[in-house]
Amino acid sequence: MKLAVMVASLRKDSANRQIFENYQELAKDKFEFEEIEISNFPFYDSGVENLDIVIKANEQIAKCDGVLFFSPEYNYSLPAVLKNALDCISRVENHAFAKKPAAIIGASPSPIATARMQYHLRQIGVYLDLRFLNKPEALIGGVYEKLQDRKITDESLKAFLTRHADAFYNFIKESK
Ligand SMILES: Cc1cc2nc3c(=O)[nH]c(=O)nc-3n(C[C@H](O)[C@H](O)[C@H](O)COP(=O)(O)O)c2cc1C
Repeated sequence: MKLAVMVASLRKDSANRQIFENYQELAKDKFEFEEIEISNFPFYDSGVENLDIVIKANEQIAKCDGVLFFSPEYNYSLPAVLKNALDCISRVENHAFAKKPAAIIGASPSPIATARMQYHLRQIGVYLDLRFLNKPEALIGGVYEKLQDRKITDESLKAFLTRHADAFYNFIKESK
């Protein structure tokens, strides 16, 4: 199965990007990954649906079996770079999010662990008609203590991400 991946932090040392890097290794027996480059999207303006970058992203998503978001929480919500990409792609006629299985993995140094961001993203997914995996929720708190040299050092987090990947794989299979 192939997943379209959106990483909603532009930082080179992003904890969320590092979790994605580790996830690719942990879930390589189940998934291939195609990252949607959202950092170069222009801010939404009328006509964005005709831009190559937006059309290409929509085509990438259409070819994938599911969408996986790795996102921090910014001011109790999702980062603007992700919201903007969702807004732009949502204006493409028959956009590829409709009925697509999706899952969220969010990491934060805080114990609330991106919960508020995740519920905002789920709310947006209602209008996009994304089909989100409900359980398990991937809320990674205290993330700075769980990474060293870009590797997850916390064994229980590795085991959890493997279980999450299994659940998402089965969810996609059941929804086909
Ligand atoms: C603009 C901004 C707003 C933030 N708001 C929150 C927040 O609401 N909740 C939270 O847990 N962390 C918040 N943080 C801290 C981030 O969780 C932390 O910077 C995290 O490392 C960002 O993810 P990244 O490492 O993947 O870039 C905020 C950080 C920034 C830059």
